[in-house]
Amino acid sequence: MPAIITMSYACIALCVIVLVSRRLLDPINRIPTVGGHSFPLLSYLGAVNFIRRGKDVIQSGYYNYYGSAFKVAMLDRWMVVVSGPELVNDLISRPESELSAREGAGEFISTVHSLGPATHHDPYHVEIIRNQLTKNIPEYLPEMVDEVAATMSESIPPSDDWVTVKPVRIMQEVVTRVSNRVYVGLPLCRNREYIRLVMKFTSDVVRDRTTGFFNLVPDSLKYLVRRKLSHAARTVLETMPLLERTMAIRRAVIPVTGGKGTEKLNDMLEWIMQEALERNCTDEDIVARLLLVNFGTIHSTANAINHALLHLAESPHHLQTLRQEAEQILQDEGWTKTSLGKLHLLDSFLRESQRLNGVNTITMMRKAMKDVTLSNGTFIPKGTLLVAPQYAIHHDERNYSEPYAFHPTRFMHAEDDRDAGGLQYVTTTTDFVPFGHGKHACPGRFFAATDLKVLMAYIVLNYDVKLVGKGPRPENVFWGTNVDPPLDVEIMFRRRRPD
Ligand code: HEM
Repeated sequence: MPAIITMSYACIALCVIVLVSRRLLDPINRIPTVGGHSFPLLSYLGAVNFIRRGKDVIQSGYYNYYGSAFKVAMLDRWMVVVSGPELVNDLISRPESELSAREGAGEFISTVHSLGPATHHDPYHVEIIRNQLTKNIPEYLPEMVDEVAATMSESIPPSDDWVTVKPVRIMQEVVTRVSNRVYVGLPLCRNREYIRLVMKFTSDVVRDRTTGFFNLVPDSLKYLVRRKLSHAARTVLETMPLLERTMAIRRAVIPVTGGKGTEKLNDMLEWIMQEALERNCTDEDIVARLLLVNFGTIHSTANAINHALLHLAESPHHLQTLRQEAEQILQDEGWTKTSLGKLHLLDSFLRESQRLNGVNTITMMRKAMKDVTLSNGTFIPKGTLLVAPQYAIHHDERNYSEPYAFHPTRFMHAEDDRDAGGLQYVTTTTDFVPFGHGKHACPGRFFAATDLKVLMAYIVLNYDVKLVGKGPRPENVFWGTNVDPPLDVEIMFRRRRPD
C-alpha cells in the first residue's frame, strides 16, 4: 500500500514538473497574459472570462502593454494582441509566408472543413469582389435602389401612425435581399426560402466553429462527416435545388473553354460560375462559394446599418440634417455613384458609427506560418494567432478626441483630404481598422458602403424614425470578440411627415 501511495505522489510530482517545465519552456509564455493565467488548466478560466468580458480584457491589455504584445486565452489556443502603429504595421506588411491573413481568417471561420479545401486554398471570390463586383456598382445602383424600396415597403410598410419594429432581424433580411439582387438577381433575391437559407448559412458558419458537434470532430475527419454534422455544409445542400435550374441554364451558355459567358448576365453567380467552370467545379462548390460571399456580406453590413439606424433614431437633429443633404443632392442628380459620393455628411455619419461600434473588438487576424520576430523584438512561435485590437484603437484618445462620443461630423472637417479620396467611409488607416488595412483590407467595403448609403438615404427621405422612449440609444452587447446592437432593441417608424 505505501508503495502505491509513493507511486501516486511520484506520478503527481512528475505531472507537475512536466506542466511547469512546458510552461517555462514554451516561448509563447514570454508574452504577458491578460484576463487570466497562463498556467495549464487555469488558462481555461481565462478563456471563460474572455467570452464574458472580452472587450474589457483587451482594453486593459491595450493600456498596460501599448506598443507591444499581450496574449489572451481562448478555449482552444492563445490569441496574441499587438498594438501601436509599428506592430500593427507588422500585421499589414509581413508576407503571407510569415503572417498569413488567409490562414488567420481560416482559424476563426473554419470553412475549409465544412465547404471544402478549394474555398480556402483557391479564394477566387476575393478577386471577383475586388474587381467585377466593385467595378459594376454604378451599373447595379438603380437595381439596388429598386430593391431597397421594394424590401423596405414590405418590411416596414409606411404608415401615418408610429409603428414599432425590432430592426436587427429586419435589417439583416433587407441587406440580404438588396445584396442578392446583385448576386443572383430577380426573382431569386425575393424568394423567401432562398433568403432564409442565405441568412441561416451566416449563423451556421459560426455554429460550426463554436457550439456545434462539428467543432468537436478532429480536423482530419471533419471533411468526411461534414454533410452529416456541419450546419453550413447541410445548408449548401438545401440551397442547391433553388439554384439548380438557373445554374443548368447558365452552364449551357457559358462555354467551358475560356470561361467567358456568351450571354453575359453580369452578376455574382455568373462571375463565380465562369471561374468555377474553368476549374471543373460541381454545382455544390458553386453554391458554397456564393454562400461564402454572402457570409462576408450579411452580418457585417447588417450590423453596420443597425448601429447607424440607432444613432439616427436617437436624435431628430441627425435625421433632419441627413435628410437635407440627401434631398439637395439626390433630387437634383438622382441616384448615381457620383451623387452618392457627394453625401459627405452621410459618409462621415457611417464612418463615425463604424468607428464607435464596429462588428468586432479585434481585426486583422493573422496566423504565424513560421517563427517570427516582430519589429519590437517580440518572438512569435509558428502557429500563433495574432490580431489588432480594433475597439481599443478606435477608443484611444491618442487617435480620437472624446472617443466614446458619437460625433457624426467628425470626419467632415478634412474636406481637402476627402476630395483627394481620403477619410471616406471606405478609407482605411492604422487608426481606422474596421475593414483591416493594407493589402488584405476588406475587398467588399465599396459594395457595403453603397448598400449602406442607399439604405440610409432611402430611410431618411421616406420615414420619420425615433427610439422607443428617450435616448440615448441602448448600449451594445459584447461577447467574446463580438459587438452587437441589442437583439431586441426597438425603433419607431412612420411615413415621413411634410417638414
Ligand atoms: C460593413 C461591412 C464590412 C466590414 C466591417 C468588413 C470587415 C472586414 C474585415 C475586418 C476583413 C479582414 C481584413 C484583414 O484581415 O486585414 C474583411 C475581409 C474580407 N471581407 Fe469584409 N467587411 C464588410 C463587408 C464585406 C462585404 C459586403 C463583402 C463581400 C462583398 C466582404 C468580403 C470580404 C472578404 C472576401 C474578405 C477577405 C479578404 C482577403 O482574404 O484578402 N466584406 N472584411
